[in-house]
Amino acid sequence: MSETIRQLISEEDVDRKIREIGEQISRDYEGRQVHLICVLKGGVFFTCELAKRINVPVSLDFMSVSSYGDDTSSSGVVRIVKDLDESIEGKDVLIVEDIIDSGRTLSYLIEVLKQRKPSSLRLCTLLDKPERRVKDVKVDYVCFNIPDEFVVGYGLDYAQKYRNLPYIGVVEL
Ligand code: IMP
Ligand code: MG
Repeated sequence: MSETIRQLISEEDVDRKIREIGEQISRDYEGRQVHLICVLKGGVFFTCELAKRINVPVSLDFMSVSSYGDDTSSSGVVRIVKDLDESIEGKDVLIVEDIIDSGRTLSYLIEVLKQRKPSSLRLCTLLDKPERRVKDVKVDYVCFNIPDEFVVGYGLDYAQKYRNLPYIGVVEL
C-alpha cells in the first residue's frame, strides 16, 4: 500500500480545541459528575485528552460497536461488540466519538443508551462531516467540522493504520 497522508489539522490546533471543549464541558457540568462513554477504538485518543481537560469529576466506560460495511463507509446495521461495564441509569452521560459521518452509528447508539435511563445524554465528537449526514443526530460538542474527505489520525484509522498520528490527515491514494 502506498497511500500518503496530507495534514489537515495540526497537532497544536487539535490540542488547543480539545482544551476549549474541555473547558466548555466543565462549565456545563459544574457541580455534577460526567460519565464519559468512549466509543472504541477511534474515540480512545480523543477521550483521554478530553478527560484530562475536564475539571469536574469524570468516570469512564467503553463501548465498541461495529457497523457492517466496508473500510470507508457504514451500512447502518450496527452491532454491539463490547457493551458497557456499568449501568448508566441516573448518570450524566457524554458519548465521546471520533467522527460523525452518515450519523447511522450514533443514531443507533443513542437510541440504545436512552432506553437505559441516563439522567442526561449528550454527544461530543472530535470531527463532524455534516455534508455526509443521512441520519439526523444532535451533536452537543464538535471540535472540528471537516469536508467530505477520508481522514486518519488521533484515533481514526485506514485499514487499522494511522490511529497513532498526533494530527488529523487526509488519505491520498
Ligand atoms: P457513521 O455511522 O457513518 O456516522 O460512521 C461513523 C464511523 O465511520 C466512525 O466512527 C468511523 O469509525 C468511520 N468513519 C467515518 N468517516 C471516517 C473517516 O474519514 N476516517 C476514518 N473513519 C471514518
Ligand atoms: Mg468510530
